[in-house]
Amino acid sequence: MEIKGKVLFVDDEINILKSIKRGFLHAPFEVITAESARDGLRTLEETAVDIVVSDYRMPEIDGFQFLKMVKERFPEVNRVILSGFIEKSVAVESLTRGLASTYILKPWLNEDMEEKINHILSMRKVLKSRKLLGVINQIENLPHLSNIYQEFMEAVNEEKSMDRISRIIQKDPSIATKVLQIANSAFYGLKNCTSIKQAAITLGLDTLQDILLTISIINTMKWKVEQMHRLQEIFLHSFIMNTHLPHLHRFIPESHYYRTFPSVGLTYDVGKVILLQYFPDRYQTVLKHLQRHPEKDFYESEVEMGFEEVSHQEIGAFFLDYWNLPQIFIETALFHHTPEKPSSQYNDIIGLTHLIDSLIRALALEKEVDPSRYTFDHIPQKVIMETVYAIGKKLTKPIFSDIQQ
Ligand SMILES: [Fe+2]
Repeated sequence: MEIKGKVLFVDDEINILKSIKRGFLHAPFEVITAESARDGLRTLEETAVDIVVSDYRMPEIDGFQFLKMVKERFPEVNRVILSGFIEKSVAVESLTRGLASTYILKPWLNEDMEEKINHILSMRKVLKSRKLLGVINQIENLPHLSNIYQEFMEAVNEEKSMDRISRIIQKDPSIATKVLQIANSAFYGLKNCTSIKQAAITLGLDTLQDILLTISIINTMKWKVEQMHRLQEIFLHSFIMNTHLPHLHRFIPESHYYRTFPSVGLTYDVGKVILLQYFPDRYQTVLKHLQRHPEKDFYESEVEMGFEEVSHQEIGAFFLDYWNLPQIFIETALFHHTPEKPSSQYNDIIGLTHLIDSLIRALALEKEVDPSRYTFDHIPQKVIMETVYAIGKKLTKPIFSDIQQ
């Protein structure tokens, strides 16, 4: 059997560690264990580990603090938190803070845990494939995402005051200016708003977070005037996605994941942004191919042109991972054209992203869209019809017409 990776389990209860070792004796990954956070950090220094699975409740340094240290000192290691059912809120919080990519509740079924670990390992394989790294390595300096977004998210999670939250954005005048430009754009319609705090109060923190993430991404790269039209088109589609995703997701039973990550729709096509910036010729060639084959979508064209495994899906997912965004962002970008592929906890979101993306594409081509051809479990046909109508209207309203470089 092929061993796909190394997993470090950290728990102060020796019996649990023993049963984990026994339970995964025949799993396709190697299990190593540590009895404390300190012990775990020592192991990480000595051994190359793919995933750390840490218990939440531990004396001295708890799982939360431990994962934070792992994130800072060993950012390439994937982190999973293990918690009791009553501490589920802690587990969810570790996801929103980007401390863990997923959580596992106690008591667990070994098959479930094995499936989750295998899933993470195969995701790592995709994002670290030689073919993909070959493309990424052509980019001279990888764009860094400003810390402001993470800081902002932390402050919101900790329910800090509006003043504190606004000051985080104001620290970077270039980002603050652009956030205000979008807040004042036709799409949001705040006229002449000159204060971040005012924008936060009027638009709400969720919307401000969306705008901040968008601007943070745009700001990582330098844009030429002639690229702005395409960039706006990509983000207009992303904003439409982000508006409709939560609406449709409300119809899915147990849709709790979504509420924790309101901006996930914004980054689903971020691979296109990267292509436009760093591989403009390839981007143009795909667009030309699409003009000749309007029945195809962007991904299908990429595959036909030989970019399978290095399409905008993989490239986007690579950067979202590199920028340390939560797992749901990475998987949505990675599978939005191939929703049949993932066996992940985010299947619903990924399926819906695919559905909305197909609607946006059909409407952008000004096709006559028959809503009955677009169905999704639990979502009434009437709601799909309303969505088609609403997207059609939004496509005529460019969102960034006011943004300046
Ligand atoms: Fe796409």
